[in-house]
Amino acid sequence: MQLSIIGSGHVGLVTGACFAEKGHDVLCTDSDAEKIEGLKQGTMPFHEPGLEAMVRRNAEDGRLRFSDSVAEAVTLGQAVFISVWTPPLPSGRADLSYVEKVSREIAENLPENEHRLVVEKSTVPVRTGERVLRTIERFAPKGRDYDVASNPEFLREGTAIRDTMEPDRIVIGADSEKARALLERIYKGFPGERVFCDVRSAEMIKHASNAFLASKISFINAVARVCEKSGADIELVARGMGLDPRIAPSFLKAGIGYGGSCFPKDVSAFIDIARELGYEFRLLEEVQRINREMRFHFVDRVEKELWNLRDKPVAVLGLAFKPDTDDMRLAPSVTIIEELLKRGAHVRAFDPVTIPRAREAMQDLQPQESLAFCNTVEDACKGAEAVLLVTEWPEIVGADWKKLRTLVASPTLFDGRNALDRAELQAAGWTVNGVGTGQ
Ligand code: UGA
Repeated sequence: MQLSIIGSGHVGLVTGACFAEKGHDVLCTDSDAEKIEGLKQGTMPFHEPGLEAMVRRNAEDGRLRFSDSVAEAVTLGQAVFISVWTPPLPSGRADLSYVEKVSREIAENLPENEHRLVVEKSTVPVRTGERVLRTIERFAPKGRDYDVASNPEFLREGTAIRDTMEPDRIVIGADSEKARALLERIYKGFPGERVFCDVRSAEMIKHASNAFLASKISFINAVARVCEKSGADIELVARGMGLDPRIAPSFLKAGIGYGGSCFPKDVSAFIDIARELGYEFRLLEEVQRINREMRFHFVDRVEKELWNLRDKPVAVLGLAFKPDTDDMRLAPSVTIIEELLKRGAHVRAFDPVTIPRAREAMQDLQPQESLAFCNTVEDACKGAEAVLLVTEWPEIVGADWKKLRTLVASPTLFDGRNALDRAELQAAGWTVNGVGTGQ
């Protein structure tokens, strides 16, 4: 089938590439002409393992093309997926102005005598589908034939290709038989359980899923705090809990809290949606509070261990919000480094992929002269009074810790992701402080 994607960000580009991989003809569009030019030359706008090869393969085979024209997307695509950015407004509410703008452009370009399926792929508040439909009704020339459906995306950055090619479920929110049948056809080659529902329920599934996963992380982080006070070990506690299939082991990893472009934004938006509909979702407000606190608590522990941080070199390893991505959006590293600088430390930061983006994200932190970006783990650790593992990149977890021990001023390690083998590091002479664990 001929499919169009409007918005070639993480979700749009990966979805488009995977549709092409499954044999569809796909046109990926974006309003950023420079990004589209880059994609035509094979330059990816972000780091995602496996994406570049998949894009190149499908572009060479002619199944994947790029354009900056919404008109072209609507003229060509039997189904048009909207995957534009829905950033948070200062109130936490999702900014739907891009979705609105695109809906209007779609309406104005709907072809005569052909049906078009408009699919919401972006994470949007419940009832956005109705607004998209109303916008299209208002701006479409008379007699055009279209449907609006919701098909939320559950991919994670870093594993986006696998998540999309092998989804555990495909949610098809459609209010007409025609829309449902079209989406079923589009996903024919994909595995995964199908969840057929109305548009509103599909929209809600996405927000509720992300809010639930964020709650799971905050829950385990709260338990970690109690573990620290009681001497229990969160890693053993999480394992013991996760073996119960009703709880399940994933997203029970204690650490410095969740970041990224999805959970923080979607939890805020969900609180706002609920409030708008007359329900105060206080549970989620607490989830946010616990999450925010984890970063400060981490720095408090470093400060307590070092007595004070003034003029002390501290290595921060890993800056992206998680491994295998260069995404710095709401990365815990920013708050942690900001706090370390405020307390007087000299920060030496390393990340294997995202240093350019990290520089940009941290350009306003003060004092800038106390912040240095290093090209290797070794360089970051040289002379450090404490080493903080913030993002569990394999390059960092698998570093030569015996050698690093010889480079630091003091072998004091804070593992913000409980990613390191504590016994092995202790044997190599490190003092290891995990989250929710003692020495
Ligand atoms: C998240 C969801 O997992 C996806 O299903 C969803 O499609 C996506 O948001 C989205 O809405 O677009 P993502 O933000 O890419 O995906 O990354 P995750 O792997 O979910 O990690 C989010 C954050 O939680 C990271 O900072 C990670 O370090 C943290 N995390 C995750 C933990 O602290 N503990 C865990 O056990 C799991």
